[in-house]
This record gives sequence, C-alpha cells and structure tokens, in this order.
Amino acid sequence: MALEVDLDGLESEARSALATANDADALEDWRVDWLGRRGRLTTVLRGVRDLPVEQRPAIGAGANRLKGELESALAARQAELVAAETDGPTIDVTLPGRRPPLGSLHPVTLTRRTMERTFRDLGFDVVEGPDIELEEYNFDRLRIPAGHPARDMWDTIWIADDDSGGPRQLLRTHTSPMQIRYLERREPPIRVIVPGACYRYEATDATHEWMLTQIEGLVIDQDLSFAHLKGTLEAFVRRMFGGEIETRFRCDYFPFVEPGAELGVRWQGDWLEVLGCGMVHPEIIEDAGLDSSRYTGFAFGMGVERVAMLQYGVRDIRHFYRNDVRFLREFDRFRGSA
Ligand code: PHE
Repeated sequence: MALEVDLDGLESEARSALATANDADALEDWRVDWLGRRGRLTTVLRGVRDLPVEQRPAIGAGANRLKGELESALAARQAELVAAETDGPTIDVTLPGRRPPLGSLHPVTLTRRTMERTFRDLGFDVVEGPDIELEEYNFDRLRIPAGHPARDMWDTIWIADDDSGGPRQLLRTHTSPMQIRYLERREPPIRVIVPGACYRYEATDATHEWMLTQIEGLVIDQDLSFAHLKGTLEAFVRRMFGGEIETRFRCDYFPFVEPGAELGVRWQGDWLEVLGCGMVHPEIIEDAGLDSSRYTGFAFGMGVERVAMLQYGVRDIRHFYRNDVRFLREFDRFRGSA
C-alpha cells in the first residue's frame, strides 16, 4: 500500500506559510494551524495509529522529526522578526532634528568687538598690551610718581615682591601704560585703540567690578585740539548707540592729560560715566622725543562693561562675571552678530 501521508509536501507547505508570517499574531496563527492540538501535523501524528502496521514506524518517525524541525523553524522566525523590529527602520526621518546646544559669545566680547569695529571704521588701528605691567609704565611715566595721590585712585594688585630689587610689577590698573609703550615704537600720525583687561582691588557694586575691560585710545598728530577729541568721541557714541543718546563732558583730573574730562551717557534717568579722556600731557609728548609745540593729541579710556550695560540694558555689572547661564543665554540671539 502506498504511503497515504506526503510528509515532504506538508513540510514545504508549512515552511512557505511560515515565511509569510510577518508579526507575532501571524506566527501564533501558524503555530495553531500546524502544531496546535488540532493542527495539521498533530493530526498526522495522531493518525499514525490508524495506519497499516507496516507503515507506522516510518511515518511516525518522519512526522516526529518534522515536528521538531517545524518547532525550531518557528523559533528562528520569531527571532528574525524581533531582530528586524529593533534593527529595522525605527528612525522617523520626517521628525525635525534635535539641535545640539551651542554656546555664544560673552556679552562683553560682543560689545568689545562692536566697539573695535566702530573705531576701525573711524581709522584706528587695534593693538594689545601686557596685563602684567611694570610700575614705571602703569604709574611713573604717566606722571603718577610714588606718593602721588592719584595712586590712591585704585587699590593696586601687586605681583609679590621677590626681594631681588628688580622693578616692581602689578596687574595693570588701566590700559593707559600702552600710550607710553606705543609712543616708544611709533611715529605720528598715531591713531590706535588698545582693548584689554584691567584690575583694581576695589569694593564692587552695581557699576564697579574688580576686573574690567577697557579700550584705550591714543591719537597724536600735528595741530589736534580738544575739538578733535569731542568730535571723535561723539562720532563713536552716535555710531554705537544711535543719534538720540544724551552725552555730557565734565572736567576730570588724570595726571597724564591736560585738560582732562569724563564722558557721561544718560542711563536709566541717571548719568553713567563711560570714559575718561583729555589732551595728552605735553611732558608725555616730549618724553617720547616729539616736539610738543608741533605735536598734540588726545587719549581716552573707556569701560567696555559700562558700554555693554548701556547696549543691553544690564543693570548690574556683576552679572557679567557670575557665569550664570540663564543670564548668558539671553545673548544667544546675538550669536554671530559680532
Ligand atoms: N586711564 C584712565 C582710567 O582708567 C582713563 C583715561 C585714559 C583718562 C586716557 C584719560 C585718558 O580711569
């Protein structure tokens, strides 16, 4: 009697059905269809006992082997689907990208760069000088000798004495020493600004920090007058803040200028001093080897933080160096503008 059960046909039918099962539900349906209690292979196995005796061993063994193979095929297909789910295209390419957090320039840097650009437009060169300065340049050669009351204007941060008897050094209290250094190396006409940090051991308040950024300006040429000083600084202020801003010049004293003045800007109903200035003292011009009856000029030193306060409406100068990111993030929108 011919075999009534075509095990090979069953196997290929079961395998191609399994290959089209694409999710857990379809796999379960397949399992029920083939290996379940009323499944097709189960029915074959159960029917073995009704076969003619001589067919039973072969069909029984073949059907049992096939059962084992289909069980492992099911497990393999299950693993395949799980793997496809995790490795597959789980990225939704239509979602907007996530931006990595980007820093921005510090507000004082933004303002310093704007100021530098404004002075460049007015024909100034930009140079820098040392933060650690010799006493001689910071004071003596600016006509502030030891014992001069002007030294008391700033409590100075000295670099520790090494008892070698060498020259004393300090963290510069202003950028004015660069007036002397620049005059040593350059001939008039001179038109230069010097941005940089200065240090004063002062009590801090809303408009004073112990470290500040200054921009020094020095202009030396023939026949310059106080009108050039006023015209230059007013042109600068107009370019920085627009025409509406109110300014005032008042007399002030600095030993290295004569006459000296300060420039105040109207700020929140008050006046904020943003710079000291004046005509370069004739003795300083003579010390530089120039004839002070031919060469005159003016100098100024302005506080960058003060200008930044005006520009951005910051009420307390101490915010600038507290490194509070909530404050610094306010300036993200100016990224790339300097
Ligand atoms: N160096 C002075 C200060 O720090 C400012 C100044 C600079 C004044 C140049 C006059 C001329 O206060």
